[in-house]
Amino acid sequence: MTERTRVAIVGAGPAGLLLAHLLDRAGISSIVLDSRTREEIETTVRAGILEQNTVEILRETGASDRVDTVGSRHDGIELRFDGAGHRIDFAESVGRGVWLYPQHEVLKDLIAVRLAAGQDLRFSTPVAHVSDIESDRPRVVATGQDGRRVEIEADFVVGADGSRSVVREAVTGSHGGFFREYPFAWFGVLCEAPPSAHELIYSNSPDGFALISQRSPEVQRMYFQCDPAQDPDVFSERQLWDMLQARVPGATLHEGPIFQRDVLRFRSFVAHRLLKGRAAIVGDAAHTVPPTGAKGMNLAVADVVVLSRALEQLLQGGSAELLAQFEDTALARIWKAQHFSWWMTSMLHRTADASEFDARRQLAELRTVTESAAGRAYLAEAYTGWPLPA
Ligand code: PHB
Repeated sequence: MTERTRVAIVGAGPAGLLLAHLLDRAGISSIVLDSRTREEIETTVRAGILEQNTVEILRETGASDRVDTVGSRHDGIELRFDGAGHRIDFAESVGRGVWLYPQHEVLKDLIAVRLAAGQDLRFSTPVAHVSDIESDRPRVVATGQDGRRVEIEADFVVGADGSRSVVREAVTGSHGGFFREYPFAWFGVLCEAPPSAHELIYSNSPDGFALISQRSPEVQRMYFQCDPAQDPDVFSERQLWDMLQARVPGATLHEGPIFQRDVLRFRSFVAHRLLKGRAAIVGDAAHTVPPTGAKGMNLAVADVVVLSRALEQLLQGGSAELLAQFEDTALARIWKAQHFSWWMTSMLHRTADASEFDARRQLAELRTVTESAAGRAYLAEAYTGWPLPA
């Protein structure tokens, strides 16, 4: 039996859930499908810097009331280089801030709020393919929790299904996307310790980059630059702490038991197309940014805000004008975020073939940014997030 809905959304990550939430507020029904269980979605620990725009949308739409209690506002970051810390004061530079609120906490909030509103949200339902996207009745075929075939006919299909998107191929065809691989990765650790600083520390050191981030008053997240082929299990905890400490010269980290370690590969990707007929891709299905600029989830939210307005106009007003602009509007922001993430990455990391010239040029770049109000404002504006289209 074929089921019907207005918008079929593949993926219950931040992009898919927020889209369902915004559409519902406009009176548009949707079905959200995800291959994972609810528990998997709610417990996979991911990065968590939210731009002010993102927080405002979550708040205004009643999608998160824990962002201020479980999360915390940060009014700046520290750039550390040449043995000293240099604060970028967001509040002073641009009058805006960011929130440290891990992605899985956002997901818990969104899932709870959607289920309470009666959202058709199906976990453990992997999508096999989408079809008929160039007709007015695109379809999604999936396997339900009971193993039975699920077939959904919609007015529009959205792929919010992450970097291994099933919907992407239907939208981009053989065009794929623009791709860039980086010659390093991040070695990430989660540890039980108090925070080492009030704000995040992004550190450039002769041994390479380190990021000192946080999860809660008791749990901290830290990363240091490593080889993409690094085996995470070869180091002792002592070695990990020594490597981290060496990469934040002049600062002292609070140490504690390390209970998780992983290696995160770095890549940049932008799909050649985000829209084809009655199907679109958003979030990680459409793009990947390196984590240095903390743009991943925020970019997904921006895509969804733009797409939800276009879908409201299409499905309620019958006009495809905003939908025709969706790709250009979304891509303009995606490429700016791509550039910012690349810039933060290149300014802070050390490549294996870097010469002494390169190292000195990099320090001059960091001084150019931190020693001038305009330099600090440039970073602060991008980090806290450019305005969303009105
Ligand atoms: C994190 O807390 O995991 C995190 C924070 C900032 C980044 C990347 C990751 O730029």
